[in-house]
Amino acid sequence: MRNVAIVGDGGHGKVIRELINARPDTRLTAVLDDKFRSFEAGKEWCTGPPEAISEVRRLVPDVLFLIAIGNNSVRKQLAERLGLKKEDFITLIHPTAIVSKSAVIGEGSVIMAGAIIQADARIGAHCIINTGAVAEHDNQISDYVHLSPRVTLSGAVVVQEGAHVGIGASVIPQLTIGAWSTVGAGSAVIRSIPDRVTAAGAPARIISSIQT
Ligand SMILES: CC(C)(COP(=O)(O)OP(=O)(O)OC[C@H]1O[C@@H](n2cnc3c(N)ncnc32)[C@H](O)[C@@H]1OP(=O)(O)O)[C@@H](O)C(=O)NCCC(=O)NCCS
Repeated sequence: MRNVAIVGDGGHGKVIRELINARPDTRLTAVLDDKFRSFEAGKEWCTGPPEAISEVRRLVPDVLFLIAIGNNSVRKQLAERLGLKKEDFITLIHPTAIVSKSAVIGEGSVIMAGAIIQADARIGAHCIINTGAVAEHDNQISDYVHLSPRVTLSGAVVVQEGAHVGIGASVIPQLTIGAWSTVGAGSAVIRSIPDRVTAAGAPARIISSIQT
């Protein structure tokens, strides 16, 4: 049995808790979130602020962590702030997801119920492949990406760091979605999308750029 501590107790955290319960080999050990002021060892799991990881480790030495925050840039900030090593994170795959044996999934990533990851797809670290999303063969998905529910990426699509593909969007083969860009819900992407823009519609067009 793997003991799992999640960092983040919002809507996405709720879904991750259920994923942990749905697996026969994982058990929720701690829930850490900024809303908790101090560390408390509860009956079922501990609670505390994100910095309480050392207390959690003292209590449960073999614990693995998962950042359960939906926002890609907040998830990255937290992953860096906590200073954990790669091997301190767990990768969680829902029992109903279908993942090719040749696919590679990075640490801290979650593959939700009904998602499908096809042959030779590579999913980076701390990604969310949400409910029913499809990452087809040879997809190259970088760290901190979120594929929302029912997204379909066809073959050999590249999604760069921190990009968010909105619910139900589809992307035709071999395109690139740029780093920290957002694709609107229900969009049909037929041309590559540059970094740091929002694109939406069918066909998807750039509707705004993200100021840095
Ligand atoms: C694309 C998105 C990020 C744009 O949000 P926004 O920057 O606040 O943009 P606005 O709502 O001001 O809309 C700007 C324009 O784009 C259009 N637009 C927004 N989202 C669109 C979409 N998904 N498809 C087509 N057009 C869209 C609006 O109609 C509006 O057009 P107008 O200027 O002609 O009136 C947002 O609409 C969206 O689709 N988010 C995805 C959310 C999601 O899937 N979350 C998953 C959670 S698990």
